[in-house]
Parts: sequence; C-alpha cells; structure tokens
Amino acid sequence: MGRRYTRGMDLKNRVHQLFIEKFGRAPDFVACAPGRVNLLGEHVDYNDGWVMPVAIDRATYIAFSTTASDQTALWAGDFHQQASFSPRTLSSKTQSDDSPLPDWAHYPAGVMWSLRESGYETPAMQAVFISDVPRGAGLSSSASVELAFGVAWMTLGGWKIEPMDLALLCQRAENQYVGVNCGIMDQFASACGERDHLLVLDCRSLEYRSFALPKDVAIVVADTSVRRKLTDSAYNDRRAACEEAVRILKQDLPNIKSLRDVNAAQFEELSAKLPVQVEKRARHVVEEMKRTERAVSFLEAGDIAGFGDLMNQCHVSLRDLYEVSCPELDAMARIAQSLDGCYGARLTGAGFGGCTVNLVEREKVHDFEEILATRYESETGLHPEMYVCTSADGAGLV
Ligand code: GLA
Repeated sequence: MGRRYTRGMDLKNRVHQLFIEKFGRAPDFVACAPGRVNLLGEHVDYNDGWVMPVAIDRATYIAFSTTASDQTALWAGDFHQQASFSPRTLSSKTQSDDSPLPDWAHYPAGVMWSLRESGYETPAMQAVFISDVPRGAGLSSSASVELAFGVAWMTLGGWKIEPMDLALLCQRAENQYVGVNCGIMDQFASACGERDHLLVLDCRSLEYRSFALPKDVAIVVADTSVRRKLTDSAYNDRRAACEEAVRILKQDLPNIKSLRDVNAAQFEELSAKLPVQVEKRARHVVEEMKRTERAVSFLEAGDIAGFGDLMNQCHVSLRDLYEVSCPELDAMARIAQSLDGCYGARLTGAGFGGCTVNLVEREKVHDFEEILATRYESETGLHPEMYVCTSADGAGLV
C-alpha cells in the first residue's frame, strides 16, 4: 500500500469529517474525480487531434447528501468559503442572498446549468469538497471539480450516463458558463481514466484506447511553482490563430474542417500563405499530430525511449512555435532531459507556468527528483514540488 493510496484515504476521511462539522450529520455519499497529466498531444484537442493523458492519483473529493431545501449549499474546504445557489439563480450567477457567486462556485453552478440544459435532474444538495490537485498548475483541477459534481448530481438525480457523455456536459459548463474555451481532453481524462493506463483519445470521433504503462517507468510531475497568468486570453488567442489558419488554408483545401485534415506535405506547400505567427501556431499543431501518431507506434512496440524523444521535441515546439512556455518551464525541462534515467520531459497542459511531465526509469526516480529539485532551485531561486504520480481510475463514488 503506497503513500499515495493513503493520501486518497486521508482526503476521503477529511471530506467526510468536514461534512459532519458543517452540516451536523454524516454525508450519504463521497465521490472523487482525478486530475490529469498529458504525456503528448498538447494544444491539439481543439484541432480535432489525438491526446495522450493519464488520470492521476490527485483528485477532488466531494461529500454530499440531498436536502429538503431548494438551495444547493456548498462548503469549499480549501477556500474556507461557502456558497449557495438554485436553478433560479443560475443565470444571474448569484447566490440566494443576491450576492455574486464566488469564482470557485462557477464550476459547480456551471455543471448544474449544463445538466439542466440537457434535461437531467439536479436535486439540491449539501456538499463539501476538497482537492489535492494543485490549482493553476496545468493538472486540470477545474475539470476534476466539474466531474466530481457531475457524479454527485448523477447519483442524487438517479440517472446514469456514460462517462464520456458526462465529460462533454462538464466541458460545456466550462465553455459556456465559466467562459473558458477549453477542448475535451481534461474532462475526458477525469471521467474515463484507467488505473495503470494511459489513454489515447481521438478528439474528433471521441473513440479512445488505453495502453498499459510499463511498470519500470515512473511519471514524475515537476511543479515549477510558477502559477499561470493571463491564461484565458492567451489560450483563446491560440485557438483563434488555429481557426484563422484553417480559414486561409481552406482557399486551397476547401474540404478541410480543422488542422487535423491538413497533412505535413500540404502544410509545407501552403504555409507561406499564412501570416508569420499563425504559421508558427499551425505548424506546431500539424507536427504535434504527426508526433502523436508516431507515439502510438512506439507504445505498441514498447519503445519508451522513442516516446520520450517525442516528448522532448514537443517541448521545443511548444516553446518556439506555440509560445506557451516560460523560462522556468524551460529550465525544468532542460535540466530533467540532461539527467540519467529520464526518457522525456516537457511542459504539460496549457502552459504559461505550472508543471512539466517526465518519464523516468523507476529505479532512478529518487536521484532524479533530488537532483532536478536542487538544480532548478539554484538556477531560478524557486522551490519546486515533485510528485511521482500513479495513474488512477476516472470519476466515481468511493
Ligand atoms: C487546457 C485545456 C485542454 C487542452 C490543453 C492544452 O488544459 O483545458 O482542453 O487544450 O489546455 O493541450
């Protein structure tokens, strides 16, 4: 029984206890939904490409019960704040006393809104939630909150849908209620994660497969401790550049719907027609899709070194073409790549701060973590966190 399993039990017990303190009775249920780390396929989900995330053993835990009131009453254990809302107050994003919903409550309220839009029952609940997914670190803390609430309403509403459908409803909450134009990757990984496996999702057809992770390879997440800034607008800018590329390329390739439909040869032929910055963004996407295709062959052949090499290339592309890295992420990836036992290292998630993901020979993990942390700290003056992650199952009752 590992340290991480114990941590999960701790969170479950803590959220249960907090519920009793807040509401004076034991909760009827506890659910949990994991964060994720993405190994390859970055900034391609909204271009209909392939992504390779792993759900991790860091999660949002929610303790919940129905209530006779028509108000959903929430306690956010990590913020020491409460909020309440009902279907009537959803559109104004306010609470029962007319004050605005705090930012964190937009995620659960958005899930309620999205579920109701699709006709699912969302009975009022009392709930407490806490999480050990670091926020703003590129590990999908928001998706894990959304999926935890999705599972809670599915449980109390007495209806059942496939995990992928719940992921899509949560993505709509984030796109249309919270206002972040994210793709499907994060909600998918949190909903459909598989213990000991990495997932490969085709973001166009939504078909996916899973690959067993080699036992002698560890996933190490290295948190630069730089938190993302200006992410939403920079993220939306990148999306807009991809859409512009498609609009221009369509003049020569009328049948394309997204950058997924443009192959490398076509891109080389037509890339001069794109404005410089749009060309760089689109080039990253086209090449990253090629990398994910090659990565699947490497996985099938059990070639982790080949897979790791693609991760290193991905970092360069995110740094130089997509321009979503920062000096701290570059330092963390560069130091890691120079260390013994490291197959591949790159920034993970949207970028602009947060974490790198590293594939490391399991036997060498201890030294790897220590040397990486020491060198990163002496180079940047920042204290990093290291998490050796195990892969987890998707959202559900626990
Ligand atoms: C964020 C988004 C995802 C995806 C990644 C980049 O995590 O939520 O949909 O676009 O960035 O790959």
